[in-house]
Amino acid sequence: MRVAIASDHGGFIQKAPLAAYIESLGHEVVDFGCDSEERCDYPDFADLAARALARGEVDRAVLICGTGIGMALTADKIPGVRAAAIQSLEFVELFRAHNNGNCLCISGRFSTIEMNQRIIRSFFETPFEGGRHEGRVAKIMREDDPAFPGVVEGDVR
Ligand code: RB5
Repeated sequence: MRVAIASDHGGFIQKAPLAAYIESLGHEVVDFGCDSEERCDYPDFADLAARALARGEVDRAVLICGTGIGMALTADKIPGVRAAAIQSLEFVELFRAHNNGNCLCISGRFSTIEMNQRIIRSFFETPFEGGRHEGRVAKIMREDDPAFPGVVEGDVR
């Protein structure tokens, strides 16, 4: 796969080793910054990588900030992107199997590189289960459409 990677200063130290790890799994990595530990704004780097994902220039994105939360909040606003901040193997497996997540957001400050490597490996190896999750993911994605009027009361399952 072609994979976007990006970080802010809180994830910078882990970015290069994790990019090398992703390449060692056989993927091609495109680096959207940042380029140093100098303080910077995570929404800028999340935006660059997530828009490349939405345009189909990459197949997946891996974003690293202090917590993963700011990257996820920003990236998930881009139509077509399903982003979440992940800190455990259980969550990354479900993020892939149930949510068909395409944008993994991880913590450079609260997760070790070794833990993030395990999370990343699972992000690439766990398939989407489909089935009953297909319709739910479609319901997530309808929120991208400004014309979607919202769920009508009573029309829930
Ligand atoms: C930067 O200090 C920090 O806020 C950022 O890396 C991230 O944790 C935001 O969610």
